[in-house]
Amino acid sequence: MSDQAEPTSFHSLVILGTGYTGRELFRQARAEGRIVFAASRAPETNLKGIPPEQRLLFDLDRADTWEAIPAQADAVWTFPAVPPDTVCAFGEQVVPRLRRLVVLGATSAYDGSPQAVRGEPVDETAPVDRSIARVHGEELLRERFGAIVLRVAGIYGPGRNPLEWIRQGRVGYSHRYVNLIHVEDLAAIILRALEDGTPGDTYNVSDGTPRRWSEIMDAAAARWGTAKPLPADPTAGKRISNRKLLAELGYTLRRPDLFAALEELERKK
Ligand SMILES: NC(=O)c1ccc[n+]([C@@H]2O[C@H](COP(=O)([O-])OP(=O)(O)OC[C@H]3O[C@@H](n4cnc5c(N)ncnc54)[C@H](OP(=O)(O)O)[C@@H]3O)[C@@H](O)[C@H]2O)c1
Repeated sequence: MSDQAEPTSFHSLVILGTGYTGRELFRQARAEGRIVFAASRAPETNLKGIPPEQRLLFDLDRADTWEAIPAQADAVWTFPAVPPDTVCAFGEQVVPRLRRLVVLGATSAYDGSPQAVRGEPVDETAPVDRSIARVHGEELLRERFGAIVLRVAGIYGPGRNPLEWIRQGRVGYSHRYVNLIHVEDLAAIILRALEDGTPGDTYNVSDGTPRRWSEIMDAAAARWGTAKPLPADPTAGKRISNRKLLAELGYTLRRPDLFAALEELERKK
């Protein structure tokens, strides 16, 4: 990957996979005045709200679509990095002509690490589980091709409201830890990582306050009248540290407090 000194705004940004996070990223990048392209395997169907000149056809499984990614662009990979052979071919053919590549992973990569098992805060020094296919792909892109990997906690925000998960019985009552990040913060952190992240490095992305589902559910019952869900999942969960994100990327969270963010989501319903 080349690493030129010009500010990021001179480089176009390509969002590989414009789903939930990709849409918020598109919104923020455009608001910053960046040249931004949204990519999809089916742009005409899935990118209806995006101006046609800012849509790209991109399918990891179709190498002929990779050529549409402009040279010297920043790129953000927002779907699981599988299968490994195709990920490797993309790394060899496309990544060298990018400026920066950010890949979104998940904090579940740390499940089973000694820190997680011992209930200690899990930082970026914890080993990841490379037997998970997508983790293998992410590490390939990071180690061999200099991608910046973000290990992302549970994503919530408009249309993905944890209170609805509780109301719909999709999560059971337990003392298990959950780590969350608001999609608005995630998108802003991606832009920050493109600017200030170190190629080949990993950053955990969470709001820094692991909470037990029981705490969230008790507060939700008291504040928003949700019913107490049935018991479930007695496993402990893990506590993700976001210290490196705050210290090394100098990021200040817009939504550090889950309950204030939930209040806002409820108000805007
Ligand atoms: N949801 C969570 O709580 C959570 C937590 C931690 C990490 N993550 C990870 O964070 C990333 C972003 O999550 P998200 O919820 O924003 O994802 P999302 O809504 O599923 O968006 C990803 C988009 O990528 C495109 N895509 C999928 N496979 C593709 C392929 N083979 N080639 C090209 N494009 C492909 C799809 O769009 P088209 O169908 O239009 O092509 C899809 O909408 C994902 O990797 C997710 O696994 C999610």
